[in-house]
Amino acid sequence: MSDMLTLSGVTRSYDLGNESITILDETNLNIESGEFISIMGPSGSGKTTLLNIMGLLDTPTTGTVCIRGEDVAKMSKKEIINHKRRTIGHVFQQFHLIPTLSAAENVALPMMFANDKLDHHVEDALELVGLSHRLNHKPGELSGGEQQRVAIARALVMRPDIILADEPTGALDQKTGATILSLLESVSDDVTLVMVTHSQALTKSSDRVIHIEDGKIIGVTEI
Ligand SMILES: Nc1ncnc2c1ncn2[C@@H]1O[C@H](COP(=O)(O)OP(=O)(O)OP(=O)(O)O)[C@@H](O)[C@H]1O
Ligand SMILES: [Mg+2]
Repeated sequence: MSDMLTLSGVTRSYDLGNESITILDETNLNIESGEFISIMGPSGSGKTTLLNIMGLLDTPTTGTVCIRGEDVAKMSKKEIINHKRRTIGHVFQQFHLIPTLSAAENVALPMMFANDKLDHHVEDALELVGLSHRLNHKPGELSGGEQQRVAIARALVMRPDIILADEPTGALDQKTGATILSLLESVSDDVTLVMVTHSQALTKSSDRVIHIEDGKIIGVTEI
């Protein structure tokens, strides 16, 4: 096992003119390669903020984020872009699919940005989430759960080392949710998986559950 993601003293605050609010407070977390981490905590506790910082979509106000021991703040723009494109895959809480593009085109987007054009990867990823029969449907023509599965396929298509999934089963019925979880588990043998969930049942197969409240890690359960 080697270090994949390390957060040291990470604080995120927002300056709201007359006051400053702290959303994440002195967070320390080390995630090893291949680990499956669940994050649980009440609404507004800072889970998405934490995931955005891990995924380089947001920068901490203080503290450091390292990928494989390398400080992100010291990386060149090119290295950061490369990590964003190839190392990390996001499954967003609100899917963020492009409404005018088909399922297959949405999944292909990360490859277009990276100048990879491997149509079979797109089809493989959509097959993996059980949507081979919906390649040409636009998000508006898909159910909520299907849109979530397209978002997961898009996160998987670049075969990232880290997948950050923000409530990936939130919009799914129990059975489809379980299918998605086993899908994420099946890739999590090789991939480092960080999943936010409100469901205790879904944390069973993770290695550790991080409990967060009011922007602080208040406990860690080893499974
Ligand atoms: N850009 C911003 N400016 C000010 N406050 C923000 C900003 N983004 C988030 N917050 C605040 O930070 C807190 C944590 O937000 P976050 O989205 O991380 O919560 P969460 O744990 O993911 O909640 P949920 O379970 O509802 O998704 C919230 O109180 C939110 O209002
Ligand atoms: Mg959230």
